[in-house]
Amino acid sequence: MISSPANDLSPLPSRDLEEQARYRALVVEDDPQWQARHRVILEEESYQVETATTFVRACSLIKNRSYDVAVLDLQLHAPQEPDNRDGVFLLRWLMRKQVPVVIVTAVPARRLVDEILSSYGHVYEIVDKSDSEAIAGLAACVEKARQSSFPGVPDDPARFREVDERFERLIAGEIERSRTGWEANHLRELASHDQASRATVTWLHLSDLHLSDDKTLRSSTVLDSLLVDIERQIGQHKLVPDWAAVTGDIAFSGQEKQYARAAGFFDRLLDRTGLTKERLLVVPGNHDVSRSLVSTGARILGDSLHDGKTISEVLGDDGDRRFLLKRFDGYARFVGDYFEGDANLDSDRYFYVRKFDLADRQIAVLGLNSAWVSASDRDEANRLLVGEEQVRAALALAAEAELRIALLHHPFRELRECEQQTVERLLCQECQFVLHGHGHRTDLTLHRSPDASAMVIAGGASHAGLEYSNTYNLVQFNPGSGRGHIVLRRWSGEGVGFWAEDNLTYRNVKNGIYQFTL
Ligand SMILES: [Fe+2]
Ligand SMILES: [Fe+2]
Repeated sequence: MISSPANDLSPLPSRDLEEQARYRALVVEDDPQWQARHRVILEEESYQVETATTFVRACSLIKNRSYDVAVLDLQLHAPQEPDNRDGVFLLRWLMRKQVPVVIVTAVPARRLVDEILSSYGHVYEIVDKSDSEAIAGLAACVEKARQSSFPGVPDDPARFREVDERFERLIAGEIERSRTGWEANHLRELASHDQASRATVTWLHLSDLHLSDDKTLRSSTVLDSLLVDIERQIGQHKLVPDWAAVTGDIAFSGQEKQYARAAGFFDRLLDRTGLTKERLLVVPGNHDVSRSLVSTGARILGDSLHDGKTISEVLGDDGDRRFLLKRFDGYARFVGDYFEGDANLDSDRYFYVRKFDLADRQIAVLGLNSAWVSASDRDEANRLLVGEEQVRAALALAAEAELRIALLHHPFRELRECEQQTVERLLCQECQFVLHGHGHRTDLTLHRSPDASAMVIAGGASHAGLEYSNTYNLVQFNPGSGRGHIVLRRWSGEGVGFWAEDNLTYRNVKNGIYQFTL
Protein backbone atom coordinates (compact mmCIF):
# COMPACT_ATOMS: atom_id res chain seq x y z
CA MET A 1 0.00 0.00 0.00
CA ILE A 2 1.30 3.45 -0.83
CA SER A 3 2.21 5.28 2.35
CA SER A 4 -0.45 7.84 3.06
CA PRO A 5 -0.59 10.91 5.22
CA ALA A 6 -3.94 9.59 6.46
CA ASN A 7 -4.10 11.75 9.56
CA ASP A 8 -3.09 14.97 7.87
CA LEU A 9 -6.15 16.19 6.02
CA SER A 10 -5.09 19.80 5.61
CA PRO A 11 -5.47 20.82 1.95
CA LEU A 12 -2.32 20.68 -0.11
CA PRO A 13 -1.37 23.47 -2.51
CA SER A 14 -2.50 22.39 -5.97
CA ARG A 15 1.07 22.21 -7.37
CA ASP A 16 2.03 19.75 -4.62
CA LEU A 17 -1.02 17.66 -5.39
CA GLU A 18 0.20 17.34 -8.97
CA GLU A 19 3.72 16.50 -8.01
CA GLN A 20 3.15 14.22 -5.07
CA ALA A 21 2.05 10.68 -5.60
CA ARG A 22 -1.72 10.83 -5.66
CA TYR A 23 -3.77 8.10 -4.04
CA ARG A 24 -4.32 5.27 -6.40
CA ALA A 25 -7.76 3.81 -6.95
CA LEU A 26 -8.66 0.70 -8.91
CA VAL A 27 -12.09 0.58 -10.52
CA VAL A 28 -13.21 -2.92 -11.52
CA GLU A 29 -16.37 -2.47 -13.58
CA ASP A 30 -17.43 -3.99 -16.88
CA ASP A 31 -20.20 -1.52 -17.73
CA PRO A 32 -18.55 1.39 -19.63
CA GLN A 33 -21.01 3.96 -18.32
CA TRP A 34 -20.53 2.99 -14.69
CA GLN A 35 -16.78 2.79 -15.22
CA ALA A 36 -16.68 6.31 -16.70
CA ARG A 37 -18.85 7.61 -13.88
CA HIS A 38 -16.61 6.14 -11.17
CA ARG A 39 -13.53 7.48 -12.91
CA VAL A 40 -14.90 11.03 -13.13
CA ILE A 41 -15.92 11.27 -9.48
CA LEU A 42 -12.64 9.77 -8.24
CA GLU A 43 -10.48 11.94 -10.49
CA GLU A 44 -12.38 14.97 -9.19
CA GLU A 45 -11.14 13.88 -5.76
CA SER A 46 -7.57 13.78 -7.19
CA TYR A 47 -7.33 10.01 -7.29
CA GLN A 48 -5.10 8.41 -9.87
CA VAL A 49 -7.54 5.89 -11.36
CA GLU A 50 -6.83 2.62 -13.14
CA THR A 51 -9.64 0.51 -14.52
CA ALA A 52 -10.26 -3.13 -15.31
CA THR A 53 -13.19 -4.49 -17.26
CA THR A 54 -12.52 -8.20 -17.00
CA PHE A 55 -11.76 -10.57 -14.18
CA VAL A 56 -8.31 -11.49 -15.58
CA ARG A 57 -7.30 -7.87 -16.14
CA ALA A 58 -8.35 -7.05 -12.58
CA CYS A 59 -6.31 -10.03 -11.30
CA SER A 60 -3.21 -8.78 -13.15
CA LEU A 61 -3.52 -5.30 -11.72
CA ILE A 62 -4.28 -6.40 -8.16
CA LYS A 63 -1.46 -8.96 -8.11
CA ASN A 64 1.16 -6.67 -9.56
CA ARG A 65 0.35 -3.10 -8.58
CA SER A 66 -0.42 -1.16 -5.40
CA TYR A 67 -3.69 0.62 -4.70
CA ASP A 68 -5.00 2.69 -1.82
CA VAL A 69 -8.63 1.77 -2.44
CA ALA A 70 -10.73 -0.26 -4.90
CA VAL A 71 -14.25 0.13 -6.25
CA LEU A 72 -15.45 -3.30 -7.23
CA ASP A 73 -18.39 -4.60 -9.21
CA LEU A 74 -19.35 -8.17 -8.40
CA GLN A 75 -20.74 -9.00 -11.85
CA LEU A 76 -18.05 -8.81 -14.51
CA HIS A 77 -18.31 -9.37 -18.20
CA ALA A 78 -18.96 -12.97 -19.19
CA PRO A 79 -20.80 -13.02 -22.51
CA GLN A 80 -22.42 -16.41 -21.96
CA GLU A 81 -23.83 -15.52 -18.60
CA PRO A 82 -24.33 -11.94 -17.51
CA ASP A 83 -25.45 -13.05 -14.07
CA ASN A 84 -22.01 -14.11 -12.80
CA ARG A 85 -20.26 -13.23 -9.56
CA ASP A 86 -16.64 -13.06 -10.78
CA GLY A 87 -15.87 -10.02 -8.65
CA VAL A 88 -16.21 -12.12 -5.49
CA PHE A 89 -13.03 -13.96 -6.47
CA LEU A 90 -11.09 -10.71 -6.43
CA LEU A 91 -11.86 -10.02 -2.79
CA ARG A 92 -9.27 -12.39 -1.41
CA TRP A 93 -6.51 -10.87 -3.56
CA LEU A 94 -7.53 -7.38 -2.52
CA MET A 95 -7.45 -8.44 1.11
CA ARG A 96 -3.99 -9.97 0.78
CA LYS A 97 -2.76 -6.73 -0.75
CA GLN A 98 -4.49 -4.83 2.11
CA VAL A 99 -6.66 -2.74 -0.21
CA PRO A 100 -9.89 -1.36 1.29
CA VAL A 101 -12.88 -2.02 -0.97
CA VAL A 102 -16.19 -0.38 -1.75
CA ILE A 103 -18.43 -2.80 -3.65
CA VAL A 104 -20.84 -1.16 -6.13
CA THR A 105 -23.08 -3.84 -7.50
CA ALA A 106 -26.43 -4.78 -8.90
CA VAL A 107 -26.17 -8.33 -7.56
CA PRO A 108 -29.43 -8.72 -5.69
CA ALA A 109 -28.35 -11.79 -3.65
CA ARG A 110 -28.64 -10.35 -0.17
CA ARG A 111 -27.25 -13.51 1.40
CA LEU A 112 -24.03 -13.28 -0.63
CA VAL A 113 -23.65 -9.62 0.24
CA ASP A 114 -24.14 -10.30 3.96
CA GLU A 115 -21.62 -13.10 3.83
CA ILE A 116 -19.06 -10.84 2.14
CA LEU A 117 -19.53 -8.11 4.73
CA SER A 118 -19.05 -10.51 7.63
CA SER A 119 -16.13 -12.43 6.06
CA TYR A 120 -14.03 -9.68 4.54
CA GLY A 121 -12.78 -7.10 7.00
CA HIS A 122 -11.48 -4.92 4.19
CA VAL A 123 -14.91 -4.38 2.56
CA TYR A 124 -15.95 -0.98 3.84
CA GLU A 125 -19.35 -0.72 2.20
CA ILE A 126 -21.62 -2.43 -0.32
CA VAL A 127 -23.49 0.06 -2.46
CA ASP A 128 -26.51 -1.01 -4.51
CA LYS A 129 -26.44 0.46 -8.01
CA SER A 130 -30.16 1.23 -7.79
CA ASP A 131 -29.74 3.26 -4.59
CA SER A 132 -29.36 6.77 -6.07
CA GLU A 133 -28.68 8.41 -2.71
CA ALA A 134 -25.83 6.00 -1.94
CA ILE A 135 -24.45 6.43 -5.45
CA ALA A 136 -24.49 10.23 -5.05
CA GLY A 137 -22.36 9.86 -1.92
CA LEU A 138 -19.92 7.38 -3.45
CA ALA A 139 -16.87 9.69 -3.56
CA ALA A 140 -17.14 10.39 0.18
CA CYS A 141 -17.66 6.71 0.85
CA VAL A 142 -14.51 5.77 -1.10
CA GLU A 143 -12.51 8.42 0.74
CA LYS A 144 -13.70 7.08 4.10
CA ALA A 145 -12.83 3.54 3.01
CA ARG A 146 -9.33 4.65 2.04
CA GLN A 147 -8.80 6.22 5.43
CA SER A 148 -10.17 3.30 7.40
CA SER A 149 -8.00 0.71 9.00
CA PHE A 150 -9.26 -2.83 9.18
CA PRO A 151 -8.38 -4.97 12.16
CA GLY A 152 -6.90 -8.33 11.29
CA VAL A 153 -6.09 -7.39 7.71
CA PRO A 154 -2.30 -7.03 8.03
CA ASP A 155 -0.12 -9.94 7.10
CA ASP A 156 -1.53 -12.60 9.38
CA PRO A 157 -1.37 -16.17 8.03
CA ALA A 158 -3.92 -17.45 10.56
CA ARG A 159 -6.40 -14.76 9.57
CA PHE A 160 -5.83 -15.51 5.89
CA ARG A 161 -6.38 -19.23 6.49
CA GLU A 162 -9.61 -18.53 8.27
CA VAL A 163 -10.79 -16.25 5.45
CA ASP A 164 -9.71 -18.82 2.87
CA GLU A 165 -11.83 -21.49 4.54
CA ARG A 166 -14.85 -19.19 4.71
CA PHE A 167 -14.31 -18.35 1.07
CA GLU A 168 -14.23 -22.03 0.03
CA ARG A 169 -17.52 -22.57 1.90
CA LEU A 170 -19.06 -19.48 0.31
CA ILE A 171 -18.17 -20.68 -3.18
CA ALA A 172 -19.26 -24.27 -2.49
CA GLY A 173 -22.66 -22.87 -1.40
CA GLU A 174 -22.88 -20.70 -4.50
CA ILE A 175 -22.11 -23.69 -6.75
CA GLU A 176 -24.79 -25.75 -5.00
CA ARG A 177 -27.38 -23.03 -5.48
CA SER A 178 -26.43 -22.35 -9.12
CA ARG A 179 -29.45 -22.19 -11.39
CA THR A 180 -27.70 -23.35 -14.54
CA GLY A 181 -24.95 -25.83 -15.42
CA TRP A 182 -22.98 -22.98 -17.01
CA GLU A 183 -23.08 -20.98 -13.79
CA ALA A 184 -21.86 -23.92 -11.70
CA ASN A 185 -19.07 -24.73 -14.16
CA HIS A 186 -18.01 -21.10 -14.38
CA LEU A 187 -17.77 -20.86 -10.58
CA ARG A 188 -15.78 -24.12 -10.45
CA GLU A 189 -13.43 -22.86 -13.16
CA LEU A 190 -12.82 -19.60 -11.34
CA ALA A 191 -12.31 -21.42 -8.04
CA SER A 192 -9.70 -23.69 -9.60
CA HIS A 193 -7.99 -20.71 -11.29
CA ASP A 194 -8.00 -18.94 -7.93
CA GLN A 195 -6.42 -21.93 -6.22
CA ALA A 196 -3.84 -22.40 -9.02
CA SER A 197 -2.82 -18.77 -9.08
CA ARG A 198 -2.04 -18.82 -5.37
CA ALA A 199 0.12 -21.95 -5.71
CA THR A 200 1.94 -21.17 -8.94
CA VAL A 201 4.47 -18.82 -10.47
CA THR A 202 3.58 -17.54 -13.94
CA TRP A 203 5.76 -15.66 -16.37
CA LEU A 204 5.86 -14.42 -19.92
CA HIS A 205 9.01 -15.06 -21.95
CA LEU A 206 9.89 -12.88 -24.93
CA SER A 207 13.25 -12.76 -26.65
CA ASP A 208 15.08 -11.26 -29.61
CA LEU A 209 12.98 -8.27 -30.56
CA HIS A 210 15.70 -6.79 -32.80
CA LEU A 211 14.15 -3.34 -32.80
CA SER A 212 15.87 -1.41 -35.56
CA ASP A 213 15.96 2.31 -36.44
CA ASP A 214 13.85 1.85 -39.48
CA LYS A 215 10.39 1.09 -38.27
CA THR A 216 9.36 -1.39 -40.91
CA LEU A 217 5.73 -2.13 -41.28
CA ARG A 218 6.36 -5.83 -40.84
CA SER A 219 8.06 -5.50 -37.47
CA SER A 220 5.23 -3.25 -36.27
CA THR A 221 2.62 -5.71 -37.54
CA VAL A 222 4.22 -8.67 -35.78
CA LEU A 223 4.94 -6.83 -32.54
CA ASP A 224 1.64 -4.93 -32.35
CA SER A 225 -0.32 -8.11 -32.80
CA LEU A 226 2.03 -9.86 -30.35
CA LEU A 227 0.79 -7.50 -27.64
CA VAL A 228 -2.83 -8.18 -28.56
CA ASP A 229 -2.15 -11.91 -28.56
CA ILE A 230 -0.48 -11.82 -25.15
CA GLU A 231 -3.52 -10.16 -23.63
CA ARG A 232 -5.80 -12.67 -25.32
CA GLN A 233 -3.77 -15.64 -24.08
CA ILE A 234 -3.71 -14.30 -20.54
CA GLY A 235 -7.49 -14.07 -20.65
CA GLN A 236 -8.10 -17.36 -22.42
CA HIS A 237 -5.79 -19.50 -20.28
CA LYS A 238 -6.23 -17.36 -17.16
CA LEU A 239 -2.44 -17.15 -16.97
CA VAL A 240 -1.84 -13.88 -15.19
CA PRO A 241 1.93 -13.29 -15.34
CA ASP A 242 3.72 -12.44 -12.11
CA TRP A 243 6.67 -11.19 -14.13
CA ALA A 244 8.05 -11.11 -17.66
CA ALA A 245 11.46 -11.88 -19.13
CA VAL A 246 13.05 -10.51 -22.28
CA THR A 247 16.18 -12.54 -22.93
CA GLY A 248 18.24 -10.17 -25.03
CA ASP A 249 18.63 -8.72 -28.51
CA ILE A 250 16.16 -6.02 -27.58
CA ALA A 251 17.75 -3.65 -30.09
CA PHE A 252 19.27 -4.35 -33.46
CA SER A 253 22.66 -2.72 -32.86
CA GLY A 254 22.57 -1.15 -29.39
CA GLN A 255 21.57 2.35 -30.61
CA GLU A 256 19.62 5.01 -28.75
CA LYS A 257 16.81 5.30 -31.32
CA GLN A 258 16.25 1.56 -31.17
CA TYR A 259 15.90 1.73 -27.40
CA ALA A 260 13.39 4.56 -27.75
CA ARG A 261 11.28 2.06 -29.70
CA ALA A 262 11.94 -0.53 -27.01
CA ALA A 263 10.68 1.88 -24.33
CA GLY A 264 7.45 2.39 -26.28
CA PHE A 265 7.02 -1.35 -26.76
CA PHE A 266 7.70 -2.09 -23.08
CA ASP A 267 5.19 0.59 -21.99
CA ARG A 268 2.52 -1.11 -24.03
CA LEU A 269 3.59 -4.55 -22.81
CA LEU A 270 3.25 -3.43 -19.18
CA ASP A 271 -0.12 -1.92 -19.93
CA ARG A 272 -1.41 -5.14 -21.52
CA THR A 273 -0.09 -7.41 -18.78
CA GLY A 274 -0.75 -5.21 -15.76
CA LEU A 275 2.90 -5.66 -14.73
CA THR A 276 5.10 -2.93 -13.31
CA LYS A 277 8.63 -2.09 -14.44
CA GLU A 278 10.08 -3.95 -11.43
CA ARG A 279 8.52 -7.12 -12.77
CA LEU A 280 9.95 -6.77 -16.28
CA LEU A 281 13.39 -8.39 -16.30
CA VAL A 282 15.74 -8.00 -19.22
CA VAL A 283 19.26 -9.15 -20.13
CA PRO A 284 21.45 -7.96 -23.00
CA GLY A 285 22.19 -9.94 -26.15
CA ASN A 286 24.82 -9.57 -28.85
CA HIS A 287 22.53 -7.13 -30.72
CA ASP A 288 22.57 -4.89 -27.63
CA VAL A 289 26.30 -4.39 -28.15
CA SER A 290 27.30 -1.23 -29.96
CA ARG A 291 30.16 -2.62 -32.04
CA SER A 292 31.59 0.83 -32.76
CA LEU A 293 32.35 1.10 -29.03
CA VAL A 294 34.49 -2.05 -28.97
CA SER A 295 38.06 -0.81 -29.19
CA THR A 296 40.84 -2.93 -30.69
CA GLY A 297 42.26 -3.41 -27.18
CA ALA A 298 38.92 -4.54 -25.78
CA ARG A 299 38.52 -6.98 -28.66
CA ILE A 300 42.03 -8.41 -28.16
CA LEU A 301 41.47 -8.76 -24.41
CA GLY A 302 38.11 -10.50 -24.96
CA ASP A 303 39.54 -12.87 -27.56
CA SER A 304 42.47 -13.82 -25.32
CA LEU A 305 40.39 -15.24 -22.46
CA HIS A 306 40.52 -19.03 -22.52
CA ASP A 307 40.98 -20.20 -18.94
CA GLY A 308 38.72 -19.86 -15.93
CA LYS A 309 41.33 -18.25 -13.70
CA THR A 310 42.09 -15.37 -16.07
CA ILE A 311 38.40 -14.87 -16.84
CA SER A 312 37.68 -14.55 -13.11
CA GLU A 313 40.56 -12.12 -12.64
CA VAL A 314 39.39 -9.92 -15.51
CA LEU A 315 35.76 -9.94 -14.35
CA GLY A 316 36.92 -9.19 -10.81
CA ASP A 317 39.00 -6.18 -11.87
CA ASP A 318 37.08 -2.88 -11.95
CA GLY A 319 39.22 -1.37 -14.71
CA ASP A 320 39.13 -4.42 -16.99
CA ARG A 321 35.42 -4.83 -16.49
CA ARG A 322 34.68 -1.20 -17.31
CA PHE A 323 36.89 -1.45 -20.40
CA LEU A 324 34.96 -4.50 -21.62
CA LEU A 325 31.49 -3.23 -20.69
CA LYS A 326 31.90 0.02 -22.65
CA ARG A 327 30.18 -1.75 -25.56
CA PHE A 328 26.88 -1.71 -23.60
CA ASP A 329 26.74 2.08 -23.15
CA GLY A 330 23.52 2.41 -25.16
CA TYR A 331 21.88 -0.55 -23.44
CA ALA A 332 23.05 0.59 -20.00
CA ARG A 333 21.66 4.08 -20.53
CA PHE A 334 18.36 2.60 -21.65
CA VAL A 335 17.91 0.24 -18.69
CA GLY A 336 19.11 2.95 -16.30
CA ASP A 337 16.56 5.46 -17.61
CA TYR A 338 13.69 3.12 -18.30
CA PHE A 339 13.86 1.19 -15.07
CA GLU A 340 14.30 4.46 -13.19
CA GLY A 341 17.59 3.95 -11.43
CA ASP A 342 17.05 0.26 -10.97
CA ALA A 343 19.82 -0.21 -13.55
CA ASN A 344 21.01 -3.70 -14.05
CA LEU A 345 24.09 -2.84 -16.04
CA ASP A 346 26.71 -0.25 -15.19
CA SER A 347 30.43 -0.25 -14.60
CA ASP A 348 30.01 -2.03 -11.28
CA ARG A 349 27.05 -4.28 -11.96
CA TYR A 350 27.05 -6.48 -14.99
CA PHE A 351 24.50 -8.99 -13.66
CA TYR A 352 21.67 -8.80 -11.14
CA VAL A 353 19.51 -10.95 -8.90
CA ARG A 354 15.90 -9.90 -8.37
CA LYS A 355 13.90 -11.53 -5.60
CA PHE A 356 10.18 -11.59 -4.95
CA ASP A 357 7.71 -13.59 -2.92
CA LEU A 358 5.33 -15.68 -4.98
CA ALA A 359 3.32 -18.82 -4.29
CA ASP A 360 4.27 -18.52 -0.59
CA ARG A 361 8.00 -18.76 -1.28
CA GLN A 362 10.89 -16.59 -2.32
CA ILE A 363 11.91 -16.78 -5.93
CA ALA A 364 15.06 -15.31 -7.40
CA VAL A 365 15.63 -14.35 -11.01
CA LEU A 366 19.29 -14.18 -12.04
CA GLY A 367 19.87 -11.74 -14.90
CA LEU A 368 23.17 -12.82 -16.44
CA ASN A 369 25.28 -11.20 -19.13
CA SER A 370 26.52 -13.58 -21.83
CA ALA A 371 27.44 -10.89 -24.36
CA TRP A 372 30.32 -9.09 -22.63
CA VAL A 373 32.94 -10.35 -25.13
CA SER A 374 30.56 -10.18 -28.08
CA ALA A 375 31.99 -7.88 -30.75
CA SER A 376 31.32 -9.11 -34.26
CA ASP A 377 29.58 -11.65 -36.46
CA ARG A 378 32.33 -14.10 -35.51
CA ASP A 379 30.77 -14.37 -32.04
CA GLU A 380 28.90 -17.56 -32.83
CA ALA A 381 29.90 -21.12 -31.97
CA ASN A 382 31.98 -21.45 -28.84
CA ARG A 383 33.21 -17.89 -28.79
CA LEU A 384 31.31 -16.26 -25.93
CA LEU A 385 31.74 -16.08 -22.18
CA VAL A 386 29.56 -15.82 -19.12
CA GLY A 387 32.30 -16.50 -16.58
CA GLU A 388 32.08 -18.90 -13.65
CA GLU A 389 32.77 -15.85 -11.48
CA GLN A 390 29.53 -14.22 -12.65
CA VAL A 391 27.45 -17.38 -12.21
CA ARG A 392 28.77 -18.13 -8.72
CA ALA A 393 28.34 -14.53 -7.58
CA ALA A 394 24.73 -14.49 -8.79
CA LEU A 395 23.97 -17.88 -7.23
CA ALA A 396 25.43 -16.71 -3.91
CA LEU A 397 23.01 -13.76 -3.90
CA ALA A 398 20.14 -16.12 -4.69
CA ALA A 399 21.14 -18.78 -2.13
CA GLU A 400 18.11 -18.22 0.13
CA ALA A 401 15.54 -18.49 -2.64
CA GLU A 402 13.47 -21.65 -3.01
CA LEU A 403 13.00 -21.24 -6.74
CA ARG A 404 15.79 -19.90 -8.93
CA ILE A 405 15.39 -18.91 -12.58
CA ALA A 406 18.36 -17.83 -14.69
CA LEU A 407 18.07 -15.52 -17.70
CA LEU A 408 20.82 -15.16 -20.25
CA HIS A 409 20.85 -14.47 -23.95
CA HIS A 410 23.05 -17.23 -25.33
CA PRO A 411 22.59 -20.99 -25.24
CA PHE A 412 25.34 -22.98 -23.54
CA ARG A 413 26.69 -24.20 -26.88
CA GLU A 414 27.81 -20.67 -27.78
CA LEU A 415 30.15 -20.48 -24.78
CA ARG A 416 33.87 -21.18 -25.04
CA GLU A 417 34.93 -24.73 -24.31
CA CYS A 418 36.87 -23.66 -21.23
CA GLU A 419 33.63 -22.87 -19.38
CA GLN A 420 30.75 -24.38 -21.35
CA GLN A 421 30.26 -27.44 -19.14
CA THR A 422 30.93 -25.61 -15.89
CA VAL A 423 28.39 -22.87 -16.58
CA GLU A 424 25.77 -25.34 -17.77
CA ARG A 425 26.25 -27.64 -14.78
CA LEU A 426 26.22 -24.84 -12.24
CA LEU A 427 23.07 -23.26 -13.63
CA CYS A 428 21.19 -26.51 -14.19
CA GLN A 429 22.08 -27.82 -10.73
CA GLU A 430 21.22 -24.66 -8.87
CA CYS A 431 18.31 -23.29 -10.90
CA GLN A 432 15.01 -24.93 -11.79
CA PHE A 433 14.74 -22.92 -15.02
CA VAL A 434 17.21 -21.41 -17.46
CA LEU A 435 15.64 -19.08 -20.04
CA HIS A 436 17.59 -17.91 -23.05
CA GLY A 437 17.19 -16.68 -26.62
CA HIS A 438 19.57 -16.04 -29.54
CA GLY A 439 18.90 -19.22 -31.54
CA HIS A 440 15.63 -17.80 -32.94
CA ARG A 441 13.99 -21.19 -32.39
CA THR A 442 11.87 -22.42 -29.54
CA ASP A 443 13.58 -25.28 -27.76
CA LEU A 444 12.48 -27.05 -24.57
CA THR A 445 15.03 -29.30 -22.88
CA LEU A 446 14.71 -31.08 -19.57
CA HIS A 447 18.18 -31.23 -18.09
CA ARG A 448 18.35 -34.20 -15.70
CA SER A 449 21.28 -35.68 -13.83
CA PRO A 450 21.65 -37.18 -10.35
CA ASP A 451 22.20 -33.59 -9.17
CA ALA A 452 20.00 -31.57 -11.48
CA SER A 453 16.46 -31.24 -12.68
CA ALA A 454 16.04 -28.10 -14.70
CA MET A 455 13.99 -26.97 -17.66
CA VAL A 456 16.00 -25.03 -20.23
CA ILE A 457 13.67 -22.89 -22.32
CA ALA A 458 14.94 -21.29 -25.49
CA GLY A 459 12.45 -18.64 -26.48
CA GLY A 460 12.38 -18.14 -30.24
CA ALA A 461 12.66 -14.67 -31.67
CA SER A 462 9.61 -12.56 -30.96
CA HIS A 463 10.57 -10.68 -34.11
CA ALA A 464 13.44 -11.59 -36.42
CA GLY A 465 12.21 -11.08 -39.96
CA LEU A 466 10.77 -13.52 -42.43
CA GLU A 467 13.51 -16.12 -42.35
CA TYR A 468 12.79 -17.15 -38.77
CA SER A 469 9.62 -18.33 -37.10
CA ASN A 470 8.60 -15.68 -34.60
CA THR A 471 7.50 -17.11 -31.28
CA TYR A 472 6.98 -16.44 -27.57
CA ASN A 473 5.80 -18.45 -24.58
CA LEU A 474 3.95 -18.26 -21.27
CA VAL A 475 4.94 -20.57 -18.41
CA GLN A 476 3.05 -21.58 -15.28
CA PHE A 477 4.86 -23.64 -12.65
CA ASN A 478 3.74 -25.02 -9.31
CA PRO A 479 6.86 -25.22 -7.09
CA GLY A 480 5.01 -27.44 -4.61
CA SER A 481 4.12 -30.20 -7.07
CA GLY A 482 6.95 -29.60 -9.56
CA ARG A 483 4.38 -29.56 -12.35
CA GLY A 484 4.01 -26.90 -14.97
CA HIS A 485 2.94 -26.11 -18.47
CA ILE A 486 4.17 -23.91 -21.27
CA VAL A 487 1.87 -22.16 -23.74
CA LEU A 488 3.76 -21.93 -27.03
CA ARG A 489 2.75 -19.28 -29.57
CA ARG A 490 3.96 -18.82 -33.12
CA TRP A 491 3.47 -16.21 -35.83
CA SER A 492 1.94 -17.28 -39.11
CA GLY A 493 2.70 -15.08 -42.11
CA GLU A 494 -0.35 -16.33 -43.98
CA GLY A 495 -2.74 -13.62 -45.15
CA VAL A 496 -2.37 -10.51 -43.03
CA GLY A 497 -0.46 -12.61 -40.49
CA PHE A 498 -1.57 -13.81 -37.07
CA TRP A 499 -0.36 -15.44 -33.86
CA ALA A 500 -1.46 -19.03 -33.33
CA GLU A 501 -0.89 -22.14 -31.22
CA ASP A 502 2.58 -23.49 -31.90
CA ASN A 503 1.94 -27.12 -32.82
CA LEU A 504 4.75 -27.14 -35.38
CA THR A 505 7.84 -27.13 -33.17
CA TYR A 506 7.09 -30.47 -31.48
CA ARG A 507 5.10 -33.41 -32.82
CA ASN A 508 3.85 -34.25 -29.34
CA VAL A 509 2.74 -30.80 -28.31
CA LYS A 510 -1.01 -30.58 -28.83
CA ASN A 511 -3.02 -27.36 -28.74
CA GLY A 512 0.23 -25.43 -28.27
CA ILE A 513 0.59 -26.51 -24.63
CA TYR A 514 3.45 -28.58 -23.22
CA GLN A 515 2.93 -30.17 -19.79
CA PHE A 516 6.00 -31.08 -17.77
CA THR A 517 7.16 -32.24 -14.35
CA LEU A 518 10.50 -31.27 -12.85
FE1 LIG B 1 18.77 -12.54 -32.05
FE1 LIG C 1 21.54 -13.00 -30.35
